[in-house]
Amino acid sequence: MDKPSSRRLDRVLVGDCVALMAGMPEGPVDMVFADPPYNLQLQNDLKRPDDSRVDAVADDWDKFASFSAYDDFTRAWLYACRRVLKPNGALWVIGSYHNIYRVGAILQDLGFWILNDVVWRKSNPMPNFRGTRFTNAHETMIWATRDRKQKSYTFNYEAMKAMNDELQMRSDWLIPLCTGAERVKRGGKKAHPTQKPEALLYRAILAATRPGELVLDPFFGSGTTGAVARKPGRDWLPIEREGDDVEAAGDRIRRATPSAAAALATPAQRDEPRSPIRAVLEREDSPAARPSTGAALGVSAVGAATSVNAARAAATRSDSQSRRSRRRSVRSSAAA
Ligand SMILES: C[S@@+](CC[C@H](N)C(=O)[O-])C[C@H]1O[C@@H](n2cnc3c(N)ncnc32)[C@H](O)[C@@H]1O
Repeated sequence: MDKPSSRRLDRVLVGDCVALMAGMPEGPVDMVFADPPYNLQLQNDLKRPDDSRVDAVADDWDKFASFSAYDDFTRAWLYACRRVLKPNGALWVIGSYHNIYRVGAILQDLGFWILNDVVWRKSNPMPNFRGTRFTNAHETMIWATRDRKQKSYTFNYEAMKAMNDELQMRSDWLIPLCTGAERVKRGGKKAHPTQKPEALLYRAILAATRPGELVLDPFFGSGTTGAVARKPGRDWLPIEREGDDVEAAGDRIRRATPSAAAALATPAQRDEPRSPIRAVLEREDSPAARPSTGAALGVSAVGAATSVNAARAAATRSDSQSRRSRRRSVRSSAAA
C-alpha cells in the first residue's frame, strides 16, 4: 500500500468497494468514513411550489430491488471495512432515516461497538414543500469502534473542546448543507448530488485520527474526505465506482488548500456569534494566513490526543467547572 508521502493526489481506486477492500491486506486503516447509498426509494420527481424540479438523488447507485438487497450490500461493505481496520480503528457512517437504522443494526451484528450517534443538524435544510411532514433537518452519523472491548481508540477530546468555545463537544452538530463555492461543479451544475459539507468531515477526522493516519472512504463521491483529510495532514484511501466522480474528486483535492477557511468554519455549539476558536478561523480568511492554520490546528489536535481515561477525567473536571459557573451565574442573577 502507498506510503502517505508517495500518494498521488488523483489516485482513486475505481471500482466496487467490496471487491477492492477484499483485495487489501488486513488492518492498515485507522478510520473509515462511509457515506453509502441511502436507498432513498424516490418514486416521482420532487417539485417545489413553483413547479420547478428539485435536484434529488436519482442515480442508479442509490437503487436497490428491496430492503433485503440493501441489507446484503450493507453487510458486505461493513464486513470488508471491519477487515481492513486496525484493532483500535473506528468507523464513521452517515445516513438518514431511510437507511441508518438498518446500517446500525447490521454493524452491531458484525461486532462493531457504537460510541456515539452524532446528529448533523442542518442550518439550511430543504423545506417539506407539500407541508405533509416535518422539515427533514438532520442526518445521523454513527461512530463505532471495530470491537466491543477496544478502549484505545483515538478521541481528540481537547481539540474538540477547543473547537467548541472550551465546552465539551456535544453529539449534535449544527452545520449548513454544502452550497456556494464549496460545491463542486461540472458544466455549471452540481458535479455530485450528495456532496457533504467539509466542516462535517473536518470534525469527524479531527476528532478520531492523528496526523499521518489513514482514512479510508469506500464511497468517495466528489472527494470530500480527501479534500478535508489533506489539510491537517491525514492520509486518505479513496474508492469510488463512478469514473466521472473520480475525475471531479482529483481536481478538487489538488485545489484543496484554498478552501481551508470554509472547511474550518464550524459554528460553535452554543451558536454564539464569535468564540475564540472562530476568531482564529475567521482570521484564516486573510490570504497571508491561509496555508498554515489548518495544519496548525491538526498539530494541536495531536498534542491534545487523550486516552479515554484522561478524557473522562477531563470531562469530569469540565462538568464540575460548568456546574460551578452555572451556580455563579444563578447566584449573580438572583442578586441582580
Ligand atoms: C452518498 S455518495 C458519497 C458522497 C461523498 N461523501 C461526497 O461528499 O461527495 C455515494 C457514492 O458511492 C458510490 N458508490 C455506490 N456504490 C458503490 C460501490 N459498491 N463501490 C464504490 N462506490 C460506490 C456512488 O457512485 C456515489 O458517488
